[in-house]
Amino acid sequence: MNSALPAIPWDYSPAPETLKVPLEKRYGLFIGGQFVPPRSRRWFETINPATEQVLAEVAEAGEADVDAAVVAATAAQKKWARLAARERAKHLYRLARRIQERSRELAVLESLNGGKPIRESRDIDVPLVAQHFFYHAGWCDKLHYALPNRKIQPIGVCGQIIPWNFPLLMLAWKLAPALACGNACVLKPAETTPLTAIRLAEILQEIEFPAGVVNIVTGAGATGAHLVAHPGTRKIAFTGSTEVGKGIARTCAAAGKDLTLELGGKSPHLIFEDAPLDQAIEGIVNGIYFNQGHVCCAGSRLLVQESVRDEVIARLEHRIRSLRVGDPLDKNTDIGAINSRAQLDKIRAYLACGTAEGATLHEAPGGPLPAKGFWCRPSFFTEVQPSHTIAREEIFGPVLQVMSFRTTSEAIERANNTPYGLAAGVWTDKGARIFDVARRLRAGVVWCNTYIQFDAASPFGGYKESGFGREGGRHGLSAYLAH
Ligand code: NAI
Ligand code: MG
Repeated sequence: MNSALPAIPWDYSPAPETLKVPLEKRYGLFIGGQFVPPRSRRWFETINPATEQVLAEVAEAGEADVDAAVVAATAAQKKWARLAARERAKHLYRLARRIQERSRELAVLESLNGGKPIRESRDIDVPLVAQHFFYHAGWCDKLHYALPNRKIQPIGVCGQIIPWNFPLLMLAWKLAPALACGNACVLKPAETTPLTAIRLAEILQEIEFPAGVVNIVTGAGATGAHLVAHPGTRKIAFTGSTEVGKGIARTCAAAGKDLTLELGGKSPHLIFEDAPLDQAIEGIVNGIYFNQGHVCCAGSRLLVQESVRDEVIARLEHRIRSLRVGDPLDKNTDIGAINSRAQLDKIRAYLACGTAEGATLHEAPGGPLPAKGFWCRPSFFTEVQPSHTIAREEIFGPVLQVMSFRTTSEAIERANNTPYGLAAGVWTDKGARIFDVARRLRAGVVWCNTYIQFDAASPFGGYKESGFGREGGRHGLSAYLAH
């Protein structure tokens, strides 16, 4: 008997997703139900952030292209709004069904173009996308019940601008309620993640969705700015940075357009000493390392009651050692690629800044990372002061700030001491404390003994510099009807 067997490393075998998603070399703009070359004659490359390989070329919509899309939407909207509500519902149901049927392909493409782990795109993003279309299909012919005493009348053409962290999910949050209410849309995906929106346009063609009701214009900030400024868009819905959101608010205010803004956050996550710590650690990990921390409602400011602070830090240090960073298409991966080089540079600047300001960095160890692509290991800072830059500004990466508190009122005061107000989390065994604390936190969403849970029926949105207006649920529908 061989008593000296080599030690077996405690590791997984690779489990790569094998589906090959065919891609064209070039994609035009989706206007009036057709893919058309851009009048701007400009194209840009879109890459896989895990390999830096070019996936395809995409059209960059200029002012004339945006105008063509708004004209197409304006023409299609009248017919769409006149359709019997139950017919609109059928189109949305058909779309939801087709998304489900093509979910594997969509999940792979989302991970390829955006860098998020396939486990997340497959089990969270794409199922929620289908859910949003199913949910809103159900409302089409029941809007009078959803919003009693409200005149049920669409706004017209909606300009919708979305970010790169949840490309297909943000598309669903924007399109589904707008379409259910009888509006037509011109949607602009983010410049780093256009491919799943383009694939959705192909699905719309496949299911013979009425042409021109949904138009997709790809491009960067300038394309978005044209869409906001166009006199034909009567409502703008934006998700992205607070800085860009403020500029959009100025333009919309001057033009008298409806507007909803979902902007940044620096959400507090409160752990009381009586919290179930094993579950709380999982909540903390999900709150900050989900989607590489590219999450507007990430629980990025951890406030731990002083009596359990050391224990929470020790458990967190242990837990992040087992998070696997790497190939987004491997089913074992927890943390995929950072979405872009620009975002990676931004995160690295904050890591350096935190250390320079005197906080202590705890970074997960691990083997070498791939030479190509954009990678960042999960980490957290301790010895963080509320005045530190990393405690105040949105990092949008897998970096957590750990602070402590003694009393409930101190916890609430520190939690609310931020220009943002998107989300918050509370962990405690006491039901009475949950209700008390949740009521006093100035945040649009407060998760209790859980974190980052979404549902199409539940409104989502912020306070203060996190924006205004709600998406999802009946509140979300209300933002797509005329006043
Ligand atoms: P961004 O706000 O510049 O981009 C979001 C979307 O707005 C993209 O589609 C972009 O093309 C478009 N856009 C940019 N400038 C525009 C303009 N002037 N008019 C109209 N549309 C415009 O965000 P970016 O630069 O990608 O990320 C910077 C930071 O913003 C991130 O590091 C993060 O902190 C925050 N962010 C927050 C998001 C959230 O979900 N709340 C999403 C994305 C970014
Ligand atoms: Mg920007």
